[in-house]
Amino acid sequence: MARRGCCCVGAVVLWRLHVPGPILVQLFGREPSHFHAAARVVAQLGFDGVDLNFGCPDKSVSGKQGAGSALIAEPTLAQDIVLAAKAGVAEGSKLAGLSEPIPVSVKTRIGVTSDVLDTWLQSLMVRSARRGCAAARGACRQGEGVASLCSWGGMMFLVCLVVLYLMVMMDAWLPHTPPHHQDVRPASITIHGRTRQEMSRVPAHWDVIARGAAAVRASGLPIVYMGNGDAMSYAHALDLAAAHGVDGVMMGRASFGTPWLFDERCV
Ligand SMILES: Cc1cc2nc3c(=O)[nH]c(=O)nc-3n(C[C@H](O)[C@H](O)[C@H](O)COP(=O)(O)O)c2cc1C
Repeated sequence: MARRGCCCVGAVVLWRLHVPGPILVQLFGREPSHFHAAARVVAQLGFDGVDLNFGCPDKSVSGKQGAGSALIAEPTLAQDIVLAAKAGVAEGSKLAGLSEPIPVSVKTRIGVTSDVLDTWLQSLMVRSARRGCAAARGACRQGEGVASLCSWGGMMFLVCLVVLYLMVMMDAWLPHTPPHHQDVRPASITIHGRTRQEMSRVPAHWDVIARGAAAVRASGLPIVYMGNGDAMSYAHALDLAAAHGVDGVMMGRASFGTPWLFDERCV
């Protein structure tokens, strides 16, 4: 599992050792089949969720392996990874005797070198069309044009229908995505309000995070949307959430040396 491109399963040591609340395992990589296998194991082991790391800026991850934040520039592959992870947790959860699959979430950034959150979020929420279907639609449009030009248009229309039918059937056979999961939407998306290039060197762009919150709300999809970046305390996180319309705030560096940070009694 430690080889290049493989997913990393962590947090096993902490598993169920006096840790209250849900415990998720975060995976990184770029090969959908690895995510499928790892997510299956995570669910089978009894963890509460799988988080997909689409935000790591580290050169060894995003540069060498094309994983983490590099996937922001490869939305179709990112979608394939989400679908593969969902298929994996569905299988693992079933094997673990759960009635529902454990959730799959995504942690990511606003872009690689610039803010592309609008289009990136869109591709995380909706898979617009399967490649084969798009091709079939194109063929149909072409066919319609040809039919109107020919004197024997009815015949051409029939041919077009047959071609369309065959292409739709072929689309079902193509091995480009796990066949049983086309709902690409993760249960939760957390946006770290910086680009990969910005690392953590500039203040987090909470205005961009808020724009993403509005887009998710407007989509009407049941997605838990969280913001991340520069929250210094529990009270500060609550203020950030209220001011920017997010469902929650993820805290990172503020927890270093203060692991009780997440306890509301310590505000
Ligand atoms: C030392 C270190 C390790 C990190 N490791 C991860 C990681 O494994 N997965 C992840 O999603 N984010 C990781 N992050 C990023 C944080 O989760 C967070 O996005 C970032 O620090 C900004 O939030 P903050 O301002 O609250 O720290 C790491 C950050 C630091 C400083």
